[in-house]
Amino acid sequence: MLAMIVACSENNIIGMDGDLPWHLPDDLKHFMRSTRGCPVIMGRKTFESLNAPLPNRTNIVVSRTMRPETQGVVVVPSLQAAIDHAQELVNGSSTPIWIAGGGAIYKAAMPFAYQIVRTLIHAQIEGDVQFPTIDPQHWGLVRSEHHPVDDRHELGFTIQWFERQPLENLPV
Ligand SMILES: NC(=O)c1ccc[n+]([C@@H]2O[C@H](COP(=O)([O-])OP(=O)(O)OC[C@H]3O[C@@H](n4cnc5c(N)ncnc54)[C@H](OP(=O)(O)O)[C@@H]3O)[C@@H](O)[C@H]2O)c1
Repeated sequence: MLAMIVACSENNIIGMDGDLPWHLPDDLKHFMRSTRGCPVIMGRKTFESLNAPLPNRTNIVVSRTMRPETQGVVVVPSLQAAIDHAQELVNGSSTPIWIAGGGAIYKAAMPFAYQIVRTLIHAQIEGDVQFPTIDPQHWGLVRSEHHPVDDRHELGFTIQWFERQPLENLPV
């Protein structure tokens, strides 16, 4: 049950100078609600962009350079070790294991994911880290929810749920 959760612009940008290039409080709420209580896997640079470990969930940070005893997180040396650790935590239950970025981790994890929850921000944005392309041959959109521009959100966005297509749906 490996799922990816991301926010990206229409030109696939997810980050700029080690941070998010936007401030969308309702999308952050959606992220926190979706991942609460579940193991969350992230790269070292994404962890460094947070003020503190995400509360009420196990933070698993993939890094070859961080001290293993870093407070409040589990540090592992590879994506595979992160998935193995998360699987032990969920212990065969249907609790999803979330991949929360950044670019390096999304790219490495995409082949193993069954679901992508993408917040598509309706803008072209400058940045230096991208989300990999979602190939429509392999991923089907199953649900979406629009959030308009309002006084707290200067950009509109749509949250989209994609699921991996069963092999029999692929064109021959
Ligand atoms: N929009 C979104 O939804 C979203 C979500 C998350 C992050 N972001 C943004 O994305 C940017 C960060 O992404 P990024 O690609 O630069 O960095 P990242 O994926 O967060 O972290 C990269 C680091 O993770 C470790 N790592 C990655 N793959 C590894 C592997 N296969 N084996 C071992 N270690 C591995 C390495 O750490 P060591 O160098 O310590 O070995 C590497 O330097 C930031 O701007 C952040 O704000 C956006």
